[in-house]
Amino acid sequence: MNSFNDNFKQLNSDLGNIIDSFFEKYNLLESPIKIYTHLDADGLSAGAILGKALYREDIPFQITVIKQLERENIENIALETNNADNLIIFSDFGSGQYHELQNKINVPFFILDHHIPQGISSKDQLEKIDEIYMETKEWHINPYFYGFDGSSEISGSGISYLFAKKMNEANIDLSTIALVGANGDIQNQGPNKSFIGLNAKILEDAKQQDLIEIVNDLNFSTLKPVNQALAYSTDIKLPGLSGDENKSLKFLKKLEVEVENSDDTIKTLMDLTQEEKQKITSGLVEYASLKLDIEPYEILEKLIVNRYLLKNEKKDSNLYDIGEFSNLLNACGRMNNASIGIATAMGNRNSIYQKAQKNLKEYRKSLMDAIRWLKEENKIKEKDYIQYYDGEDKISDNIVGTVASILIFDENEILKLNKPLFGYAKRKNEDAFKISARAHKSLVKRGVNLSEAIRKALKVSKLEALGGGHPPAAGTKVPTEKINLFLENINKVIGDQINNS
Ligand code: C5P
Ligand code: C5P
Ligand code: ZN
Repeated sequence: MNSFNDNFKQLNSDLGNIIDSFFEKYNLLESPIKIYTHLDADGLSAGAILGKALYREDIPFQITVIKQLERENIENIALETNNADNLIIFSDFGSGQYHELQNKINVPFFILDHHIPQGISSKDQLEKIDEIYMETKEWHINPYFYGFDGSSEISGSGISYLFAKKMNEANIDLSTIALVGANGDIQNQGPNKSFIGLNAKILEDAKQQDLIEIVNDLNFSTLKPVNQALAYSTDIKLPGLSGDENKSLKFLKKLEVEVENSDDTIKTLMDLTQEEKQKITSGLVEYASLKLDIEPYEILEKLIVNRYLLKNEKKDSNLYDIGEFSNLLNACGRMNNASIGIATAMGNRNSIYQKAQKNLKEYRKSLMDAIRWLKEENKIKEKDYIQYYDGEDKISDNIVGTVASILIFDENEILKLNKPLFGYAKRKNEDAFKISARAHKSLVKRGVNLSEAIRKALKVSKLEALGGGHPPAAGTKVPTEKINLFLENINKVIGDQINNS
């Protein structure tokens, strides 16, 4: 087993070869480089990093943002680029479809991705991964080739950042955008929500450039009123407060924290001052140790998280906290304004940013409406091993995945965490459902691998669609009339994963 540093060296040396080959090919071209990237925060960050890096080299480029590299998208790209003198970079997708791309795309391309490669079911298939590495390393960079975990240690924007930095050391300032992307993919999974693996390495770059500051904060949802955030926290369970928003509100008021806004709504974590947060921290530690006999260090470990603040952004802006920054990018991507997100991530702070904020507001509202509807109408159904919901005409395919993530990670009072969640929504103008699957990390520990499960269930259901992702988060699409068949089959596959591990 090679060490972290050896693996990182190998990754960098392969990136060096890819960059040489990129320039060799670029020098023969007349047309701009085509970058295809994913529509979520990580994909937009990846696109912005690549765009900025090429801009700095004076290389013309064009960025296209798409929801997913499905078969039809690949065919369209093949049509658009066939016989033309094009050079393509795929970022934040491509590994899960590399075979398809190899077969269909007739112009040179590079893949900078972090998803489990096509044909691989788990990161433990070392031999098979090595085979793909040997076959594709001249044009394909993926963390699993080097023993790094693409679901928690580096994202698509992280891989794009390493490419950019290898191209030109001056791109080290883009490290912060790589972390925004990683945060968007919920990769801050280390102790106290820290970054681990290659993301931690990227964080060192950002720190070295004095671009980032890490502060302690309360581990509560930043979206919900604080009393609800306390009552429904996934990580902090305090008998007497958990599950009860009224008691939580009383508790906060007793601590003399001003929790109400002037219009009588309750503040969110983002509205509280550092001092008020400190009062809540001390109050909760006291409550836990006096009333529940929990050691202070035990509660503090769960209660305090790292927040990453960008020193060059204005303090009152949504771009100051990387978590908020990534929400804003997600909002732009999912409210059909991806280019505004990319411009913001590339550094534009003018009128475009105002538009981005408007997107964020609308996006938050549509997420909250979706979750309220699922709750109030009891829309989450169950089978033996899975939970699922149909977005009907209330949840669009653009946000069905984010809704599933929020349900699993933040709003899980209406869910069971011991069954993975499958959300689906009809694709506009297509007779198909987009499916988004999410599993809590405790389930992944018990052997659930959603990327593998989706690929297996597609196969058993004799469906042609591409699918996959990561063990805790994966997706695909299914013809509308096959949805029940697919759900039956995925229920069985998940059952096998749980029972056979
Ligand atoms: O395609 P990509 O890798 O960028 O997207 C990952 C998706 O999976 C994001 O929507 C992210 O919120 C979700 N995710 C998750 N839990 C994880 C890792 C990722 O829900 N542990
Ligand atoms: O679309 P959604 O957010 O549900 O996707 C979850 C994860 O699965 C993402 O990382 C996404 O890129 C990946 N995915 C994939 N292939 C698909 C659909 C989703 O790799 N066909
Ligand atoms: Zn990603």
